[in-house]
Amino acid sequence: MQDIEKLELELLESIGKASDMEALEALRISALGKKGSVSLMMRGLGQMDPTERQAIAPKLNKLKTTVSDAVDHAKASLNAAALNHKLAAERVDMTLPVRPEAMGRIHPISQVMDEITEIFADMGFDIAEGPDIDDDFHNFTALNIPPEHPARQMHDTFYLPEKEDGSRQLLRTHTSTVQIRTMQSKKPPHRIVVPGRTFRCDSDQTHTPMFHQIEGLVIDKTSHMGHLKGVLAEFCKAFFELDEVTMRFRPSYFPFTEPSAEMDIKCTFAGDHVKVGEGDDWLEILGCGMVNPRVLVHCGLDPNEYQGFAWGMGIDRIAMLKYGIPDLRAFFDADLRWLKHYGFVPLDVPTLGGGLSR
Ligand code: DAH
Repeated sequence: MQDIEKLELELLESIGKASDMEALEALRISALGKKGSVSLMMRGLGQMDPTERQAIAPKLNKLKTTVSDAVDHAKASLNAAALNHKLAAERVDMTLPVRPEAMGRIHPISQVMDEITEIFADMGFDIAEGPDIDDDFHNFTALNIPPEHPARQMHDTFYLPEKEDGSRQLLRTHTSTVQIRTMQSKKPPHRIVVPGRTFRCDSDQTHTPMFHQIEGLVIDKTSHMGHLKGVLAEFCKAFFELDEVTMRFRPSYFPFTEPSAEMDIKCTFAGDHVKVGEGDDWLEILGCGMVNPRVLVHCGLDPNEYQGFAWGMGIDRIAMLKYGIPDLRAFFDADLRWLKHYGFVPLDVPTLGGGLSR
């Protein structure tokens, strides 16, 4: 009797002290294993007389259960402790700042496109898009540039290989193609801007074969040149983030507008830096005009009922101007150091309320 209680106390004490699974398993074997202390005692039951056995057997059974429960319990707490230890060791502090190098940058062209579309969206314009690969009709004919028209030569077009029917697709030379696609697919009124990639077979210090334009088109029954001027004046002030930008319209020629004009803004050249808005020089920034009635006819609209205005502007140059970027070609070099310097932080989305460029 005494022995049983003593053994129980001893075993429970050492089980409680076992510091790892191995020690615990050794203890379990030394008590409950074939030759373990508890098992040996149980084997002794056989030699006892029945009365003694009846008194001892339940005690031994209880000892066995107690010890085995204590081992299970100790196992569970060792496991829990191991897990907690692992969790603590693998803990990640989510509040630590992200390493700044790991963050990408928004390319100045994307930034400027976002800024421009934000300004026009605020004036109520929709954003429209069209394919980079287009056809003769949308790039030329529908825009009142028939075959053999001298304006076709000005465009240095990239053509795709001729098809069986003799036609050739092309890389659009301007975003004006989307004027046609919009007027053909929807009913007026139209009020759209079209940012996108354009292509011309031209490459030098100020030209790249791929460049970017944004087109504007307004078609309804009453819009006139005065509205065009108002829209562009508002745009210039918002884009250059100035209270006043002096601009002038010079008569020009585009087959798809009549009358046509080019718009210049006042500026000062100081070394390789340009200050926009004031000064004694002029900088040409876009072509515009009233949509030629022939273009409306090509799109199935009655020019006696509808009229409107359009403009087209190069994005790359005004991006260079606004952000003091000296070399056009660097835009397309994919140099990460350049992008880190001239690029924009992704979460600073341009808004008119929060500031376009900040
Ligand atoms: N498409 C012309 C170009 O690429 C730019 C242009 C001029 C677009 C006048 C227009 C416009 O919509 O009205 O040179």
